[in-house]
Amino acid sequence: MQLPERNQPCWCGSGRKYKKCHWAFDEKLKMYENQGILVPSHELIKTPEQIEKIKESAKINIAILDYVADHIQEGVTTQEIDNWVAKITKEAGAVAAPLGYEGFPKSVCTSINEQVCHGIPSEDVALKNGDIINVDVSTILDGYYSDSSRMFCIGQVSPEKQKLVDVTRECVEKGLAKVKPWGYLGDMSQAVHEHAQANGYSVVREIGGHGIGLDFHEDPWVGYTQQAGTGMLLVPGMMFTIEPMINMGSYEIYVDDSDGWSVYTEDGLPSAQWEIMVLVTENGYEVICY
Ligand code: MF3
Ligand code: CO
Repeated sequence: MQLPERNQPCWCGSGRKYKKCHWAFDEKLKMYENQGILVPSHELIKTPEQIEKIKESAKINIAILDYVADHIQEGVTTQEIDNWVAKITKEAGAVAAPLGYEGFPKSVCTSINEQVCHGIPSEDVALKNGDIINVDVSTILDGYYSDSSRMFCIGQVSPEKQKLVDVTRECVEKGLAKVKPWGYLGDMSQAVHEHAQANGYSVVREIGGHGIGLDFHEDPWVGYTQQAGTGMLLVPGMMFTIEPMINMGSYEIYVDDSDGWSVYTEDGLPSAQWEIMVLVTENGYEVICY
């Protein structure tokens, strides 16, 4: 990107002169870049106006998941969950991001037990006592994206499954605590991985989180096996998801050939996932969607 002259308006859209706005920031970024560190492009740095719009989208995403939390129970089909998501999204004047995304046929992903992610809602699948399910909701409002997912435990789940769900949530929290400006994405990744391993679990490698806001999936790609002090430099205004998939057994997974989407654990043991959207701020982080 062509940088403005010192007295020209800043690239961030603040209306302030570049020298009084992001000039020092860009100098700092250049210094990191010269040391071989991966730095974010300006397109990944959200303006305050964009952040407000993304938060409006996130409000809908959160409300949908709150509705699911209140109504999900034994006997509900995953198609009914899809119907709820489609209805609430439409009433809010928004669009469900998954519908039609690379051909995905439904408005939400529902992944049960050994399904890792990208499960397709179906009339034929009713929730049973003891199931654990991830409901992954993504919303577009006026072109701004939000994305988050939660786990739900149906009836009485086994202590083993309950622990997997709880530890996976803790993994997200441990990772989140490492998010800070001028830190590294790998700081978060390592914290997630360590907590999973400490509990005897494994972390899915091939599928990760992503930058988000102006598009569904922006840079950087967010994995959970990177070391602290590595990966993209985090700077204020960056927004990304933390959404580790934690397996009770091995990290190996496969995609179901029959639908081209549903991801399963290779060993058939359960998997859990929680997803939040986080903004890097001047002082640390802000959770935008959960
Ligand atoms: N919501 C998923 C994510 O967290 C993406 C799902 S893509 C879909 O990135 F097409 F399966 F919806
Ligand atoms: Co996501």
